[in-house]
Amino acid sequence: MSAIKSILHETRIFPPDTAFVKQANVAGTGAYHALCTEAERDYQGFWGKLAQEQILWHKVFTRVLDESNHPFFKWFDDGELNISFNCLDRHLATQPDKVAIIFEADDGKVTKSTYRDLYRRVCQFANGLRSLGIAKGDRVIIYMPMSIEAVVAMQACARIGAIHSVVFGGFSAKSLHERIIDAGAVAVISADEQIRGGRAIPLKSAVDEALAMDGADSVKSVVIYQRSGKDVKWHAPRDVWWHDLIKDKDDTCEPEWVNAEHPLFTLYTSGSTGKPKGVQHSSAGYLLGAMISMKWVFDYKPTDIFWCTADVGWVTGHSYVAYGPLAMGATQIMFEGVPTYPDAGRFWKIIQDHKVTTFYTAPTAIRSLIKSGPDLPRQYDLSSLRLLGSVGEPINPEAWMWYYTVVGQSRCPIVDTWWQTETGSHMIAPMPGAMPLKPGSCVFPLPGIMAVVVDEAGHEVEDGKGGFLVIKRPFPSLARTLWGDPERFRKTYFPQDLGGKYYLAGDSANRDLNGYFWIMGRIDDVLNVSGHRLGTMEIESALVANPLVAEAAVVGKPHDIKGEAVIAFVVLKGMRPQGENARKISTELRDWVAKEIGSIAKPDEIRFGDNLPKTRSGKIMRRLLRAIARGEEITQDVSTLENPAILEQLQQPIK
Ligand code: PRX
Repeated sequence: MSAIKSILHETRIFPPDTAFVKQANVAGTGAYHALCTEAERDYQGFWGKLAQEQILWHKVFTRVLDESNHPFFKWFDDGELNISFNCLDRHLATQPDKVAIIFEADDGKVTKSTYRDLYRRVCQFANGLRSLGIAKGDRVIIYMPMSIEAVVAMQACARIGAIHSVVFGGFSAKSLHERIIDAGAVAVISADEQIRGGRAIPLKSAVDEALAMDGADSVKSVVIYQRSGKDVKWHAPRDVWWHDLIKDKDDTCEPEWVNAEHPLFTLYTSGSTGKPKGVQHSSAGYLLGAMISMKWVFDYKPTDIFWCTADVGWVTGHSYVAYGPLAMGATQIMFEGVPTYPDAGRFWKIIQDHKVTTFYTAPTAIRSLIKSGPDLPRQYDLSSLRLLGSVGEPINPEAWMWYYTVVGQSRCPIVDTWWQTETGSHMIAPMPGAMPLKPGSCVFPLPGIMAVVVDEAGHEVEDGKGGFLVIKRPFPSLARTLWGDPERFRKTYFPQDLGGKYYLAGDSANRDLNGYFWIMGRIDDVLNVSGHRLGTMEIESALVANPLVAEAAVVGKPHDIKGEAVIAFVVLKGMRPQGENARKISTELRDWVAKEIGSIAKPDEIRFGDNLPKTRSGKIMRRLLRAIARGEEITQDVSTLENPAILEQLQQPIK
């Protein structure tokens, strides 16, 4: 593991302001340590108490953690609850008229929904789903734009115990199809179109295309929310308009009480090999993670205007849009559009207009805004902000400093939150009133999260030395399994090489001499493009599926804004193309990947060779390709290469 060497040496440190500490939910380092000690002293007692305090139980649990079938842990498993009841009904008596969601459309139009209104909409839609025969345990695909309706759809599934699987609207028909099949979905909820950055992007036609492909006949119903009003093809009786479905439906709906371990949702994410993994979350443990991190990390207060910019298609949009803020009774912003439309001041204008207090976004968005308007935030009144957050990839110290000084005006702590689709909620993140911050570090594990850095034999390494990031004990919000593939869950996350005991996150990390965690990146062949995990293998498979392509290898290259850019090395079935022809085929293949997977996976660059560099045993030399993609000097031993001449070809960008 000495190969994972940390090269970042950051010495700046930012203690929390006394005024912030005074009002914080967890105030001062002592309070943080007290929570950690409590968790260490009585692990089950610690989590059991939090689950009692945070969650409204229909039937209270008597057991906290069952580890007998490692690593398929169960939490609170004789308890019963309903997640939608926990997010909506609980607020009806205390704050029915509080605004739950302030929705700002791409064109600037604002719509607000109170807790009472949201409750009614969810109940009506849940009744609509029931009228289609959808029941507890059925899988429902949600392929929708950012909208109040997307949250209603998720909450309505939770209300009737159906398991939702949200597919990001940027994914192609092909990816949608793959997820429908894997989930065995009975219904798809979508929209006619989505509108982003002034452009309309079709969704319904992608659903039609996906459902026309082989094997998708488990889907009996398609519910379409009318967003743009564009004419769409209609397949009666399968298709039904959202507005027709809820017509005459009752606005109350008895929740389905489910077991604490009942799957709330699955969400597909990239792995290094094979098809995407359907990460399956529980109900109670998942909700507890979302709620407690709202309190600890976002220092949530009832007066906050909370804004997480993530799309509901990603886990961040589940935990910190659809579930966490609602369970806490927060007022939150949802934004349909993109940060740079109509100009790069859009985020800052939204913060000013709605007096946002807590702003949570991704480093890729921050970098793009620095690039397109470093001084723009100064033109807006951002004085309502009190806390900033970052998620999705490591934030470079310089981007952190800009975020801190220009957006937060050196007043707002930044919570850099490390977590994953699989962990469900924040794992390593600052408690902003309890600890000094270091730019680029996600600081300390949350209380009850036993995160450490180990070597490849599973032994903890000394502070200051890099290694694999693992979590030693199960925690409530951890994914329970991979949909339909428990063996892959065990092998991927609890590998035997590490003794099979610890949860392996798939990231490398370094804990410095003060105990601060620094995430160094993924250890598998997974890229992180604009904060989204993409498997190189999936992009390679998509390229090879093109009739022109014989072989492909995909690597990442550092990119100013996206974090990593996708670079593909391709061998065609015919002659290696040159000049104009190479340009033409490159465009064709890039568009092909966008169509196969979605535009987020589109390679930035394609290079052609007569062959790929391989070892004598036939393994593609990815490390070498990474060096080539980055334009670095080749220091590796290339003597084992079958055909050293191809290196020169692959070093040539298409002109
Ligand atoms: O590599 C880490 C990176 O994103 C991965 C998780 O991706 P995903 O499951 O798509 O979830 C993204 C949103 C939680 C991690 O394995 N990552 C996420 N947050 C951070 C991060 N890397 C460094 N710092 C972070 N704050």
